Amino acid sequence: MQTPSQYIIDNKQRFLDELFDLLRIPSISADPSFSDSVHKTADFVAESLRKAGADNVEICQTAGYPIVYADKIIDPSLPTILVYGHYDVQPSAPDELWETPAFEPVIRKTEIHPEGAIFARGSCDDKGQMYMHVKAFEAMMKTNSLSCNVKFMIEGEEEVGSGNLGPFCIANKEKLKADVVLISDTSMIANDIPSIDVGLRGLSYVEVEVTGPNRDLHSGVYGGAVANPINILAKMIASMHDENNHITIPGFYEKVAELSAAERSDLNLAPFDHEAYKKDLNVGDTWGEKGYTVIEKTGIRPTLDVNGIWGGYTGEGSKTVLPSKAFAKISMRLVPNQSSDEITALFKKHFESIAPSSVKVEVKPHHGGEPVVTPTDSKEYKAAARAVKRVFGKDPIPTRGGGSIPIVALFKKELGLNSVLLGFGLDSDALHSPNEHYGVVNYFNGINTIPLFFEEYAAS
Ligand code: BES
Ligand code: MN
Ligand code: MN
Repeated sequence: MQTPSQYIIDNKQRFLDELFDLLRIPSISADPSFSDSVHKTADFVAESLRKAGADNVEICQTAGYPIVYADKIIDPSLPTILVYGHYDVQPSAPDELWETPAFEPVIRKTEIHPEGAIFARGSCDDKGQMYMHVKAFEAMMKTNSLSCNVKFMIEGEEEVGSGNLGPFCIANKEKLKADVVLISDTSMIANDIPSIDVGLRGLSYVEVEVTGPNRDLHSGVYGGAVANPINILAKMIASMHDENNHITIPGFYEKVAELSAAERSDLNLAPFDHEAYKKDLNVGDTWGEKGYTVIEKTGIRPTLDVNGIWGGYTGEGSKTVLPSKAFAKISMRLVPNQSSDEITALFKKHFESIAPSSVKVEVKPHHGGEPVVTPTDSKEYKAAARAVKRVFGKDPIPTRGGGSIPIVALFKKELGLNSVLLGFGLDSDALHSPNEHYGVVNYFNGINTIPLFFEEYAAS
């Protein structure tokens, strides 16, 4: 009998071709005009699971985009792994900044990926990483080496907050019964420095609207006497960081879990090249909260960032106008033990309290999610670490990721399940940015590591 790794070598080109077909479908969940494509992608994922040998393949309808479910129960006495991933992607805009079109995948070599990377929206986040699980499952099925039961739950709304997945989990607790959740939707430090995320930040996301006069005004006739909502909004936003780049919202840090000196020094043992980091981003310096390293700033500290700001005249040439309204979308990344609802409420209260009487403000909460930290002394982390070591030849370093996967906290709360964040992307793979890519080596390292995780987890 063949081994999974030999099967993977023998089917290398087909595994790439199929991923390319998946990447060609523009499954942008944020934009309703792509709705047909998002549904088509769900069908593609369901069909690929069926072909790989899964049973009970289902396209579960929700109030939004469907959740693809499938399973393979080989022996009820074996542990069951619930694989979670997402088939939706972020918008590709600004399209003009892509070297090749976002939904026409191509392989190009880069400095970091000398053996080639797949350039396409979703190549890393998360179609490429999700599809590794479909192909690893196929390899285990075809070589008769599946060592755990497996369930798949692949959703199409992760990039818009997973609003329908929580209710789905609550309504399907029996169906989703498992021992652990396995997710590939995070990053590693580098191809020669394997790591496993043991934390994700939470998220509070709000949209604010500042209204000045009841209509746009002539900025000469009224300017100077009537508050300009854009000027006011800019000042309000600027005031939310102090001179040390601490966030000024009262109570914002109250529940932040402070790490011990030993925990912080452990975290900073992970290799980090500040010069290379700056060079990659072409910035003169990094920024942030005084007293913390870059690893800490993105891993264990909360943030507040404006994601978009608009208002007034932004067209060709100039228009002298004192606008009636200004808007911004603001996100706050959260860490244990902050709560998304509490932070959103604190933001709203503070934002309203600092608004001068010359304007009216409105704060509209968007989706949110809770932060998570996963244990490193658990059976699942240890199995993942052994699997990674067998492929990469080195023990992985536990890292705290800066991004958010809001559903991970819900898996714990609603299903009682821990998650393993077995990600194979790199932070520099341009997730959510133009020219997103995913190393061909990363794709196959992932496909090779997954069967070993199954094996190690079953053995432990
Ligand atoms: N896969 C990312 C999250 C991620 C990326 C975690 C890299 C760790 C390292 C996920 O698809 C994502 O983008 N999540 C969103 C949150 C969501 C509510 C829109 C995020 O982090 O902005
Ligand atoms: Mn993702
Ligand atoms: Mn994403």
